[in-house]
Amino acid sequence: SSAEPALKQLFADDFKIGAAVNPATIRTQDSLLAYQFNSITAENEMKFVSLHPEEQTYTFEAADRLVEFARSYGMAMRGHTLVWHNQTSDWLFRDGQGGTVSKDVLLERVREHIHTVVGRYKNDIYAWDVVNEAIADEGEALLRTSKWTEIAGPDLIAKAFEYAHEADPQALLFYNDYNESNPQKRDKIYALVQSLLEQGVPIHGIGLQAHWNLYDPSLDEIRAAIEKYASLGLQLQLTELDVSMFRFEDRRTDLTSPDPAMLELQAERYEAVFRLLLEYRQIISGVTFWGAADDYTWLDDFPVRGRKNWPFLFDAAHQPKLAFERVAALVKEK
Ligand code: G3I
Repeated sequence: SSAEPALKQLFADDFKIGAAVNPATIRTQDSLLAYQFNSITAENEMKFVSLHPEEQTYTFEAADRLVEFARSYGMAMRGHTLVWHNQTSDWLFRDGQGGTVSKDVLLERVREHIHTVVGRYKNDIYAWDVVNEAIADEGEALLRTSKWTEIAGPDLIAKAFEYAHEADPQALLFYNDYNESNPQKRDKIYALVQSLLEQGVPIHGIGLQAHWNLYDPSLDEIRAAIEKYASLGLQLQLTELDVSMFRFEDRRTDLTSPDPAMLELQAERYEAVFRLLLEYRQIISGVTFWGAADDYTWLDDFPVRGRKNWPFLFDAAHQPKLAFERVAALVKEK
């Protein structure tokens, strides 16, 4: 890429700069990834269903290739994710007689899974999203209703962190969630992590997914979330950053390329976000984008299937966008 200096150099004294990757993008975005980023996360390949489709079967090939990619470029790697309500194999919850497993059996299976996966990658993965998206978005309940909590209740969360810590005492263990800047959800995430800390659970950080857009959440909400989480004394990472061109409610499908006004707004938004992140660089240890360049993003299928989006600092040809230039210019203010 002609974008110089690289993001990873611009922020070398501040935080790691990461990208989510998959088996296709480590080929199609190889030079961009190697040049700009110093950390990667597997987009899907380390999720439960990808690694452990059947009780007696682990499928590590794709995940191993991503680990090998990180190793070959000397990049750090985040692990994503051990306990999640999505992309988890059904067998985990079944007892083999058409019923549901007991809490003890589920915990034993989770322990075995976590020990196997975290143990396998202990020399390569420095941080894990141990539990992902366990908090309920709405209502009074703290936790989302899922097979996990139905069977094992809230204990499972603490146990997952303990198992991960046993498997790799060096690994940094994160609770990771989205809508993390929404005031109600922020307070629930805070309450969960605070109670884990009170119980002496080994947890070291909170991951703010940061699936944001040109308008939401507000900078004040982001700041308030960072302040509140930081008050727990843990490190923070942005784990899945992207800045969608569309508000969540906006279901327009007529755009085939971003117009200049959108690109300008996106540049202003990224500039403001990174200026804020730099204020908290003592607490924020990593900023990972959920992709690298606009040729591939999960947002092309969400929330409108097949609608193109352009959420990153690099365009579809891997060239720096206006947003990259504004972010790079911030380094002069440091
Ligand atoms: O692998 C199958 C393929 O065999 C099949 O032909 C194809 C047809 O749809 O689907 C493929 O699976 C897709 C999978 O990604 C791999 O590409 C699933 O449909 C699709 O739902 C899945 O989406 C992933 C999503 O998590 C699942 O919830 C996205 O790629 C991934 O970016 C996204 O990542 C999540 C984080 O893990 C957690 N935070 C939110 C973030 C965005 O949703």
